[in-house]
Amino acid sequence: MEVVIPKNPADVGRLATDKVASVVRARPKAVIGLATGSSPAFIYAELARRVRDGEISFAEASGFALDEYVGIPFEHPQSYASVISREVVEPLGFEPARIWIPDGRADDIDKAATEYDEGIAAAGGIDVQILGIGANGHIGFNESTSSFSSRTRVNTLAPRTREDNARFFVDTSQVPIHCIVQGLGTILEARQLVLVAQGSAKAEAIARAVEGPVSSMVPASALQLHPHAIVIVDEAAGSQFLLADYCCTFANKPVR
Ligand code: GLP
Repeated sequence: MEVVIPKNPADVGRLATDKVASVVRARPKAVIGLATGSSPAFIYAELARRVRDGEISFAEASGFALDEYVGIPFEHPQSYASVISREVVEPLGFEPARIWIPDGRADDIDKAATEYDEGIAAAGGIDVQILGIGANGHIGFNESTSSFSSRTRVNTLAPRTREDNARFFVDTSQVPIHCIVQGLGTILEARQLVLVAQGSAKAEAIARAVEGPVSSMVPASALQLHPHAIVIVDEAAGSQFLLADYCCTFANKPVR
């Protein structure tokens, strides 16, 4: 795993953007794994700027969202279908017909989950998966004890996750209890993983994910098993690393 702590916190988003942009420039029909949450917002904003400036295009690319709540309508402003449409599809100019979101409203949700993985495979697999991390170490909505070989499935949100995400709802009681999420096994099949984190609230989770041990109690530690995973964090999020001095790149130039 490559770990980068940029000297300038604003470069977390820029370096991650460089990674995603290089994949899309090399392959305009790239398949992008799309995370929600605050952490990747800088990536989408910077990609949108590059689209506006004509440096890059997502017109031929496809996208698969990581996860979705179960039990709220698609049109709810906090459904990930709405968030991805508003924050990613429209500003980056994706063709909406090439964007897939796990179906949290399906009558047969297990079937919908199986078909989601089949859809990723039919698209040729995910070229680059963007990831944030929960303060409890989750990725997507893969909470502690998620199997490293799990596939897209229904999962139950941890109380901490519901509390953390209450800021997007009226209060914690309004946050759905269940979700449908790409499994850790699904995520590990992406050809590249790019995880970003900012702020001291993520420091413990990031240190446990990067320095181990590999454990289903820290789902993000699954990245240690991936051949092409990069973790880009600001100094606050990297403040609990034990081995930062010789294991991390302190970047002041674009990551290749
Ligand atoms: C949610 C999302 C995750 C995201 C996490 C952290 O739980 N399902 O994909 O990584 O929030 O979000 P944030 O970046 O807002 O802290």
